[in-house]
Amino acid sequence: LLMIVTIDGVAASGKSSVSSGVAQALGVPYVSSGLLYRAATLLGLEASLDLHAAPGLLTLLGAHPVRLEPLAGGNRVWQGERELTDDLHSSRVDRGVSVVAALPEVREWVDAQLRALPEPFVAEGRDMGTNVFPHASHKFYLTASARIRAERRARERPEDVPAIEAALQRRDELDTVQSAPAPDALVIDTGPLDLQGVIDTILTRLP
Ligand code: ADP
Ligand code: CDP
Repeated sequence: LLMIVTIDGVAASGKSSVSSGVAQALGVPYVSSGLLYRAATLLGLEASLDLHAAPGLLTLLGAHPVRLEPLAGGNRVWQGERELTDDLHSSRVDRGVSVVAALPEVREWVDAQLRALPEPFVAEGRDMGTNVFPHASHKFYLTASARIRAERRARERPEDVPAIEAALQRRDELDTVQSAPAPDALVIDTGPLDLQGVIDTILTRLP
């Protein structure tokens, strides 16, 4: 069964955990598009580049190609032999990534890599169901209040809940343009659900 399932949503709404669960149930990989934006940001920061300027970033990414390895259990990102995965979720990358993701040239760089992947898969991010895979067979969009998302993320980050909540809201604002739900996406408020509840809500709608 060849198909693409898209799971978009705001920051820390559960996209990657839910996508991993859905993908494992379907026996297909999931694709975490945000990791490519995070990788571009990490490499730009390491090279002390201006994150607002596309040419320098694109030159860097062209000279040292980045590869996303989409697995069902968790995605990994490589630059040659170096694995970037564990460095992509720092607060420094969190703070810079929306600026990098606003650059059209970077978005094209990400989109081209995603569109080259062999189906089937579950794709998660902001614009998987709108811009990248508008023809996807099943589309979902995850939400939850900023406080609930911050409380969840506080279990994975050293900062406290109010600081994380403020950072999430700032990122939501910077990401507004690419974060509109697809008109044909099912919007799921994950606030009252646990992780398995969200996964099951999606699985019951898939063939
Ligand atoms: P995103 O990929 O959208 O940033 P994550 O998958 O990293 O989100 O989820 C953030 C955290 O929220 C994870 O630790 C996840 O296990 C947790 N979580 C707790 N409850 C839920 C729920 N009901 N739905 C989704 N994620 C949840
Ligand atoms: O999981 P979380 O929402 O914290 O982050 P992510 O999904 O890894 O995305 C990180 C950043 O990448 C977002 O804040 C967006 O700026 C950008 N992004 C995007 O613009 N489009 C996507 N499809 C995915 C991510």
